[in-house]
Amino acid sequence: MAQIRRILNLLADGQFHSGEQLGAALGVSRSAVWQTLKRLLDPTLELHAVRGRGYRIAGGLELLDANSIVTAINDPALAKQIALEIHDTIDSTNSYVLSKINNPPGLVCVAEQQTAGRGRRGRTWFSSFGKNIALSMLWHFPGGSTTLAGLSLVIGIAVVNALNNYGIHDVALKWPNDVIYHQHKLGGILIEIAGDAGGPCQVVIGIGLNVAITSVAENAINQAWTDVHTITGKNPQRNRLIGLLLRELLLILPQFQTHGLAAFANRWQQLDVLYDRPIVLETGGKQIHGIAAGIDSVGNLLVNNNGELQRFHSGEVSVRLGSK
Ligand code: BTN
Repeated sequence: MAQIRRILNLLADGQFHSGEQLGAALGVSRSAVWQTLKRLLDPTLELHAVRGRGYRIAGGLELLDANSIVTAINDPALAKQIALEIHDTIDSTNSYVLSKINNPPGLVCVAEQQTAGRGRRGRTWFSSFGKNIALSMLWHFPGGSTTLAGLSLVIGIAVVNALNNYGIHDVALKWPNDVIYHQHKLGGILIEIAGDAGGPCQVVIGIGLNVAITSVAENAINQAWTDVHTITGKNPQRNRLIGLLLRELLLILPQFQTHGLAAFANRWQQLDVLYDRPIVLETGGKQIHGIAAGIDSVGNLLVNNNGELQRFHSGEVSVRLGSK
């Protein structure tokens, strides 16, 4: 593991490194460098070998770093509330935090790569090594799961705030919690709840953000997507963005606990990409056609179906083609 880290640290700059240099770091001969790198490094890293120049990781990498993340939270009192764990490879950060559900709130797990990342509705969530954000945070709610109505929508708002602070504007939310930039998916949220309806419950807040999708990952994503690199045209600062996300989560969770979804109704409406658009909602094996009409006080989607306002707790929404 230490050997892989050493090599990744060398190659993280995206520049070419000679076979001699890498051979010395790996403890192998120059001629064995390529095979050794292929064996050690994750296949989603785009490793280039050019005769006479050496080896590089296309686009470089910003490896996860606890100090940089804490610095970006930019508030020692907030930073004190988290216990940050950085993993190289993990099945799923959400599964990991779920397995630690009785830890104190504020446990945060981030990983360079998930091998079994989970999306909503049982889907898989793909991420390349070192190129995305996979973050899960544990939080405790004393009031029972009935007080959590709308939590996932509010977490979406926190993600948008963090992206705005990073310098990405024009971000919107698609009910229930897709993070959208110009009609393309930039990220998603998976909230998992343990505990019972009446008593205290524990929540795992999982956030996945596309930071720099590699060509390997492109083929694994079957919807219109974008990433931070494409939007900004600059090398992404993953640690800074994670710090900004944690900061916004730590600020928004107490507000949500005190005031509930009602305090965020206006902000949701500003960000709601579906509002007043013709949509199709797939739910319970049925297709509902109508005009999206925002959310109700507990975060259900409102759909105007020929003058009748219906509310839906779950489902998959698509915007009808040919609509504005
Ligand atoms: C979705 O849009 O379907 C939700 C995707 C959520 C992905 C994140 S990545 C970090 C956390 N760990 C997981 O396994 N899933 C969530």
